[in-house]
Amino acid sequence: MDSIIVRGNGALNGQIPIAGAKNACLTLMPATLLSEEPLTLTNAPRLSDIKTMTQLLSSLGAEVSDLQDGKVQAMSSHNIDNHIADYDIVRKMRASNLVLGPMLARLGHAVVSLPGGCAIGTRPMDLHIHGLEALGAEIELKEGYLHAKVPAGRLQGAEITLSFASVGATENILMAATLAKGTTIINNAAREPEIADLATCLRAMGAQIEGDGTSRIEVQGVDRLHGATHPVVTDRIELGTYMLAPAICGGEVELLGGRIDLVGAFCEKLDAAGVSIEETQHGLKVSRKGDRIRAVDVVTEPFPGFPTDLQAQMMALMCTAEGTSVLEEKIFENRFMHTPELMRMGANIEVQGGTATVTGVERLKGAPVMATDLRASVSLILAGLAAEGETIVNRVYHLDRGYERVEEKLGNVGAHIERVDGV
Ligand code: EPZ
Repeated sequence: MDSIIVRGNGALNGQIPIAGAKNACLTLMPATLLSEEPLTLTNAPRLSDIKTMTQLLSSLGAEVSDLQDGKVQAMSSHNIDNHIADYDIVRKMRASNLVLGPMLARLGHAVVSLPGGCAIGTRPMDLHIHGLEALGAEIELKEGYLHAKVPAGRLQGAEITLSFASVGATENILMAATLAKGTTIINNAAREPEIADLATCLRAMGAQIEGDGTSRIEVQGVDRLHGATHPVVTDRIELGTYMLAPAICGGEVELLGGRIDLVGAFCEKLDAAGVSIEETQHGLKVSRKGDRIRAVDVVTEPFPGFPTDLQAQMMALMCTAEGTSVLEEKIFENRFMHTPELMRMGANIEVQGGTATVTGVERLKGAPVMATDLRASVSLILAGLAAEGETIVNRVYHLDRGYERVEEKLGNVGAHIERVDGV
């Protein structure tokens, strides 16, 4: 397993290009199952999770080709000859469950392994199941697999109210509803930008959708969808992650392709902490306003609130801020696994249930640390950028799931960072 070595090396300066959004691409790719005609995604990120989704769609019979160095996913699901999403693939990546809705809409049946828990929580699928059952699916759990079918032959539109604004459940129900007979309304829908991006792609395929980006989405089902070409939206979590690099190290970095509307609540917190964010012709330019970052409190919420996927990275900034910061994680039940590793670097953090209290110290000290999940691993890289001495982040396969060429992007703005092949 590879490791990444980071040495605190002072201010960062230059430009970092932001890729297409992993979490948009992972719901856009299953949308190919909704049509016999080809769907092409441009600006796709080059990540191991995208390769896993490619593997899953191919196992179902879709043809997926990575063009232009993986930045274009050209897909055709003319012949879907398998309706079983196997545990071996699904267990590697929860987003595999996003083939369920499209397969029910297109084929009328599907067998999808439950993803099982992951490092950050149990991650059940009850909201997905209730929504799809409301559309006329019959879903039964047998030996770890969801066996789903549509007795009426075609899904029927319905009004669905989600008890929690689940991103994945909204995506699964939305995709299924595009081919259902009649009208579907999703109340308390997730409002993440990836939902709007999916709806834009589905409309390009001929779907009739209104209200995406709000908490009430209305879908008029159609008989079939045609092919399309769609650009994947910018990755707001990669954007927020790299905005923190100059905030932690000093200097000035321009995030190419960055859009302030994707990171509103996050930018408000950075501004309060003493970070300057300037919109430029090419993206967002970020630097510190003064000498030291101020502590701010954070509560993670569904969009447009502070994103849970930036909580670990924000904590890395708070570790050396002036004052005490309280970070409350309200989306996942176990998303503080970066804290023991940050404490190995000298951070002063106290965790009580879903709340972490961080008292800033002058400077962290480099140490060997362990990546445990995708966002925790990048928070350790960020902490190492300004720490005294050397930080070795192990098990960086977690990192490669969601960040393209992290050592190249940070190295290009002056970070001392290198990947060491695992033994
Ligand atoms: C998506 O996961 C993202 N993944 C996650 O990003 C992100 O953290 C999450 O949304 C929240 O923004 C992708 O888009 C591929 P949820 P998802 O359904 O859809 C509970 C990353 O780092 N829940 O909104 O799984 C669930 O347990 C990843 O890129 C149910 O209880 O998130 C969790 O506590 C991590 N029942 C909360 O809701 C359900 O049926 C949020 O889940 C579904 C979810």
